[in-house]
Amino acid sequence: MMKSMPLNARGIPASRLVLGCMPFGGEWDHSPLTEERVKLSEAAVEAALSIGINMFDHADIYTRGKSEEAFGRILKARPGLRDEIVLQSKCGIGLEGDGLPSLFDFSRDHILESVDGSLKRLGTDYLDILLLHRPDPLMEPEEIAEAFAKLKASGKVRYFGVSNMSVAQIRFIESELTDRLIVNQLEMGLGRLDFVEETVRVNQTRGTQVHFSDGLMEYSRSENVQLQAWGPLAQGKFTGRDVSGEPEHVQKTAKLVTQMAEDRCTTREAIVLAWLMKHPAQIQPVIGTMNPERIQACRDAQREADRMSREDWYRLYMTARG
Ligand SMILES: NC(=O)c1ccc[n+]([C@@H]2O[C@H](COP(=O)([O-])OP(=O)(O)OC[C@H]3O[C@@H](n4cnc5c(N)ncnc54)[C@H](OP(=O)(O)O)[C@@H]3O)[C@@H](O)[C@H]2O)c1
Repeated sequence: MMKSMPLNARGIPASRLVLGCMPFGGEWDHSPLTEERVKLSEAAVEAALSIGINMFDHADIYTRGKSEEAFGRILKARPGLRDEIVLQSKCGIGLEGDGLPSLFDFSRDHILESVDGSLKRLGTDYLDILLLHRPDPLMEPEEIAEAFAKLKASGKVRYFGVSNMSVAQIRFIESELTDRLIVNQLEMGLGRLDFVEETVRVNQTRGTQVHFSDGLMEYSRSENVQLQAWGPLAQGKFTGRDVSGEPEHVQKTAKLVTQMAEDRCTTREAIVLAWLMKHPAQIQPVIGTMNPERIQACRDAQREADRMSREDWYRLYMTARG
């Protein structure tokens, strides 16, 4: 049975593919945003819009705020665009060298200040979705709840979610919230198979080497949590990057992806994303390329997912697993 994507089921009109905006700002140093980066970011956004992508993923820390700033410049130049897109950002990580007191920070004040900073840089009044970026061991759900309630009441954030979190952590945070956490963003894809291995390796010794939260896929499906995959293109490993120095299974997977793309008259990007999208959890790939041609090469991903056979899905999985 084909279910709709959890975000769509909640009335959020997000596209299946998301453009990850992490590299928009360029260098991660303290240098200012350049006009050249704004232009490159514009081209990436144009390419994304041209293939129907309407959702964009940010974080307060990406290139020390410059990525959000670049996106803000694009929004300013295109009045009306803000209301046509789904804008997501994250908070909760501190960057080394910024004089912050901690690596992770889910304190009430940090969350509130971070969102104000993101809104200012993006030049918008609201985020559609705010994610807590990585678990803070010192978190207090009451403080998170207080911050979220304030952000919701002021209209600054519409929905909340998390990233890189386990089932237990989601339940722990939700214990104090009035709203559900509707997104969890994790590394998943043909280059990072743990999300499948965790399902397959139950009761196997090799299962102890799998780094994924126990039961997270099943929990997300039954609770309608939108899973989002970062690293969905495996940083180009199977779509054309030079892999001559990589292990044999990586080279074999790259060959298989190329063969499949040729047989189906499509791109390698479409095959790699289709593999992830065939999973019934309706995962949203957050693609991180800024190259307009590579973004456009993702256009057929949904069509290829719809027509990928079980046999092909398992062939890709087994080859990538080595
Ligand atoms: N929640 C988290 O903790 C977390 C962590 C990391 C990332 N993210 C989000 O997820 C997004 C995507 O992450 P990602 O960048 O790891 O994903 P990805 O889409 O797997 O990789 C994109 C990277 O691979 C390169 N690439 C792709 N195809 C290539 C090819 N054929 N040859 C050479 N290079 C190629 C891209 O460079 P080009 O730009 O040159 O194409 C880009 O640097 C980020 O932008 C961010 O929004 C979230």
